[in-house]
Amino acid sequence: MCGIIGTTGVDDALPILLEGLHRLEYRGYDSAGVVLVSDGVLWRARRADGTHSVEELFSLSGTAPAGAHTGIGHTRWATHGSPTEENAHPHLDCTGRLGLVHNGIIENHSELASELVAKGHTLTSQTDTEVLAHLVEDNIAGGASLVEALRAALLRVRGSFSVAVVHADDPEVIVAGRRATPLVVGIAKGGTLLASDIPALLGRTRRMIPLDDDQLVELRPDSVRITTLDGEEIEPDVRTIDWDLEAAQKGGYDDYMSKEMHEQPQAVADTLLDRRKPDGALVLDELRLTNEDLERIQKVFIVACGSSYHAAMVAKYAIEHWTRLPTEVDIASEFRYRDPVLDDRTLVVGVSQSGETLDTLQAMSEAARWGAKVLVVSNVVDSSMARKADGVLYTRAGPEVGVASTKCHLAQVVALEILALTLAQIRGTQPAEAIALLLDRMHELPDKVEEALGRAKEVDAVAEAIAGARDYFFLGRGVGFPVALEGALKLKELSYLRAEGYPAGELKHGPIALIVPGTVVVGIATRNGLFEKMLANLAEVKSRGATVVLVADDDDDEAAAVADHVLWVPPTEPLLSPVVNVVPLQLLAYRLARMLGNDVDRPRNLAKTVTVE
Ligand code: AGP
Repeated sequence: MCGIIGTTGVDDALPILLEGLHRLEYRGYDSAGVVLVSDGVLWRARRADGTHSVEELFSLSGTAPAGAHTGIGHTRWATHGSPTEENAHPHLDCTGRLGLVHNGIIENHSELASELVAKGHTLTSQTDTEVLAHLVEDNIAGGASLVEALRAALLRVRGSFSVAVVHADDPEVIVAGRRATPLVVGIAKGGTLLASDIPALLGRTRRMIPLDDDQLVELRPDSVRITTLDGEEIEPDVRTIDWDLEAAQKGGYDDYMSKEMHEQPQAVADTLLDRRKPDGALVLDELRLTNEDLERIQKVFIVACGSSYHAAMVAKYAIEHWTRLPTEVDIASEFRYRDPVLDDRTLVVGVSQSGETLDTLQAMSEAARWGAKVLVVSNVVDSSMARKADGVLYTRAGPEVGVASTKCHLAQVVALEILALTLAQIRGTQPAEAIALLLDRMHELPDKVEEALGRAKEVDAVAEAIAGARDYFFLGRGVGFPVALEGALKLKELSYLRAEGYPAGELKHGPIALIVPGTVVVGIATRNGLFEKMLANLAEVKSRGATVVLVADDDDDEAAAVADHVLWVPPTEPLLSPVVNVVPLQLLAYRLARMLGNDVDRPRNLAKTVTVE
């Protein structure tokens, strides 16, 4: 996610901005910039040198105008447009007298950009953000004050934003607004501050005011004025924050994994944003493949590792069901060496959170060597894989710090199902109304994930009941099978307990010999066409003394009847259910690992990105 910092009146602005950006670096970023208001003009500096960008801005301190006490700064995690200096924030308007920074996604940026260009504005970046600077400029030209100009601009925006603006004509003022992405005001001696999150302000103040959705704030050195987007005055609720820096970087959670599990609703919502044009046509990111290329495809391979591989397995069911395209899923380290049969009518999809996993990267190169079309689903803009592919579909989960993948896994499943629907739309294998209905169901997923997360206490109770078991099996059928594999992987990599994911119908062909009293069997038993068979498989293990834990649809008594413990989830479309059903398994693995005293953010022997074979 991007990071925002702002200050007015406290002291010389540049050191405060740079210190705040440094404290925001932990959020992950690929470029950074600042703008100062000084002597009636703006002074801007930006750098796009990955995680060295802030450090490079520090080196510019000597060239900045002295005595500027107002400014804003930004660390960018690219979602729209490559991580270049032109795309780095702050963005300026046409006059060069307005500076703006933004965190979030402007869903209707294309239509706003067309309108602004038609009015004569010149946009100089590939970002969605820049349209905001020109919208505010337009409103000021129409006679609005800075805060009213931002208000009018935000009323036209669809999507998520936290945004801050300065103007050379208002040397002591910062105006800002938020929806869905956080923004906190700080009250310090002699001035006020603004940041995306608490860590950036802790070095200057512990007196803070978190803004709520659809609120604007007008900051002056001696005043804070908060209004709703509709203009209603809001009494500032000043709080004293007693967190230390590390606790603040985890957003008050005990660890990054907890924080990232609770960011999952937003990660799914952001990945879904801006995917459907007003005419219903689906839109992928930098897809350098034409519809004709995709219509010619006769076979799909999806290649990945670990949790990304499990997301790929879910996609196989969706792609084959919605497009009737034969789809194979391969472990990347196997794909490269099995002499796969590929040609220019094959689509090879690489799935990778980091976009740097060597096994997957080299599998993509192998695919390209055979002339296949290569598409990458990645969480990192311009990652090695993204740069080499014919097309890219970005998950928008923001940086994932915890080694165990959670929010990126969910975002990958959603992104791959968007890809499946896009292929179905282009190839005409699903009617428009069916595609629209599935998209509507997808947009319900963030709330369902939120609901599943809200049941953490019930999951904790089940964890306490099954702790101490020696063997854990995770069983699923259909799309429940990759969910079972992901649940087993989470348990293994976090708690170091032996856990095996298996297709439920396959257990009787050998592994059932391992089921003895005390074995814990976790079954994915939400309603789908295989529900009755799943219950039959669970009866087989229960009759051999296993402790049965089920992931089941709310109030499903038939499922509950065969379970010792139930992890209830809100029901959803079967092919979309992995997005919700995996959540209690993440929580279960997390709790068992915490009970064992393990470091859930940095499990032993594991790296976040595996760049070796
Ligand atoms: C999952 O929790 C693990 N961290 C690991 O399996 C991971 O999914 C795998 O290494 C693939 O990483 P990537 O998505 O960055 O390619």
